[in-house]
Amino acid sequence: AADIQADLDRVLVTEEELQARLAELAAEVNRDYAGKDILLVGVLKGAIMVMADFARHLTIDAPMDWMAVSSYGASTKSSGVVQIRKDLDTPLDGKHVLVVEDIIDSGLTLHWLLEHFATRGAASIEVLTALRKPDAMKVEIDAKYVGFDIPSDFVVGYGLDYAEGYRGLRDVAVLAPHVYS
Ligand code: PRP
Ligand code: MN
Ligand code: MG
Repeated sequence: AADIQADLDRVLVTEEELQARLAELAAEVNRDYAGKDILLVGVLKGAIMVMADFARHLTIDAPMDWMAVSSYGASTKSSGVVQIRKDLDTPLDGKHVLVVEDIIDSGLTLHWLLEHFATRGAASIEVLTALRKPDAMKVEIDAKYVGFDIPSDFVVGYGLDYAEGYRGLRDVAVLAPHVYS
């Protein structure tokens, strides 16, 4: 495999900044969900890093479930067509669901997912995302917990991929255009 650093333009959010912000969000979630039947729903595959780090900042016990959806494939643009690759294992009935995402870009994935969850009997549904691109959103997503708002560049790392690569990068970085153009 090729060297990661050679494919990056610049770092946008460092590992330290991500951890500090996730700790703050976890403190909020500890307060907001105290005594409630919370269920963390991670959106595979991008959310694996956020889930691992965020969940370890929590002091309330929070079960996890996972849903695998994909809309990007090997492209830098969302296809808008969301495919379920793995459904939840647990019913949402009565649960206070917190959907955990790596990024809201166009918003199409979460828009579809939240609509899909709406009829499944959850007590509440909120969204936590590490990153959000306000200028790229095509649909309004009301995310209660947002790590960082970032510009609309194509970013990788911390779970975010380009053609399945770069997910293991610890920072969030802008992918150099020569990689995909
Ligand atoms: C990425 C990312 C989000 C979604 C955000 O997932 O992890 O889930 O796109 O983009 P949107 O707001 O424009 O819909 P992707 O479909 O690439 O699947 P992956 O998580 O397996 O990489
Ligand atoms: Mn994803
Ligand atoms: Mg992806």
